[in-house]
Amino acid sequence: MTLQTASRKPQRQDSIAARLLGWYDAHHRDLPWRVSPRELARGVRPDPYRVWLSEVMLQQTTVEAVKAYFRAFTEKWPTVGALASAPGDDVMKAWAGLGYYSRARNLKACADRIVEEGGAFPDTEDGLRALPGIGPYTAAAIAAIAFDRPAAVVDGNVERVISRLFSIDTPLPDAKAEIRSHVEAMVPAERPGDFAQAMMDLGATICSPRRPRCMLCPLSEDCGALASDDPERFPVKAAKPDKPLRRGAAFVAVRGDGAVLLRKRPDKGLLGGMSEVPTTGWTARIDGETGAEAAPFPADWRHAGRVSHVFTHFALELEIWRAAAADDAPAGHFWSGPADISGEALPTVMKKAIEAAIPGATKKRPN
Ligand code: ADE
Repeated sequence: MTLQTASRKPQRQDSIAARLLGWYDAHHRDLPWRVSPRELARGVRPDPYRVWLSEVMLQQTTVEAVKAYFRAFTEKWPTVGALASAPGDDVMKAWAGLGYYSRARNLKACADRIVEEGGAFPDTEDGLRALPGIGPYTAAAIAAIAFDRPAAVVDGNVERVISRLFSIDTPLPDAKAEIRSHVEAMVPAERPGDFAQAMMDLGATICSPRRPRCMLCPLSEDCGALASDDPERFPVKAAKPDKPLRRGAAFVAVRGDGAVLLRKRPDKGLLGGMSEVPTTGWTARIDGETGAEAAPFPADWRHAGRVSHVFTHFALELEIWRAAAADDAPAGHFWSGPADISGEALPTVMKKAIEAAIPGATKKRPN
């Protein structure tokens, strides 16, 4: 049985911000893009480029997964000008594996636009939102963290913290407006950037989806969900329909020297501009083409396994076929040699496909 609780209002809204900031001062995560409260107090200012880059990378990707990519990008392209000067294909290659590849295309478009417009990031939410790839969440996060604007920054972590604090029974996504208005009321005039990051850290480290560590929470006295004895019930979520399953086949053609045949996907659409091995269309029909007869050219195709991958709107099962192939690449295709393949702009599903056929092929080789 789940306990129903009326949505309740914590008593001391401004002291919530103060307690959260006190907790953040002591327990914030050290993240490669973050300027700590101590550094801020010494007058260090966040670099909007690093804040923007980290926020775009963190859209739909975990902090742990982003750290190495963030370091690699900032070493290679330390400024927005450097990123704008980079060839688009190099940016796609460096992004490969992070997923949601339209983010990489928008990242480059945004860097280009900023440089065209004088090289400085806009310092308001509205100005930021006008740029490619910057939606309401990212604009608010950059405005707060880089420019100390009192913006309401609401991501999934914050939704969880607020829906628990106020024991909001309305399911997500309908509860979004209510959650936002609570955050707006809570944002402090001082240190709004740290407040936003404190909310995120609280959601990530204490107010976790499963088994929240309420004993360590600076807001436990005010928490409606804890008072109801069932914090995990929040946020209440509307039931999600199952993702449809699509199927297809992918063909890993291997030359004598170990090179793999690749082609580039069209710039627009799913995985746009990324590289892939030849593949059939991905269709929801159960009689779709998944066999060797669908190969792009005749060869001694051998079944090399099946790969599953989950995209935002569908799950995919790919039958993997492998064959030895002669030197001439069909039009629109190219060979990627064993030393180059780890650096290609291969999305994760394609790395899985190649690995099924040639284990270890997409891993970086020691120099
Ligand atoms: N998730 C998204 N943005 C973040 C940030 N700036 N700090 C920590 N986690 C985040």
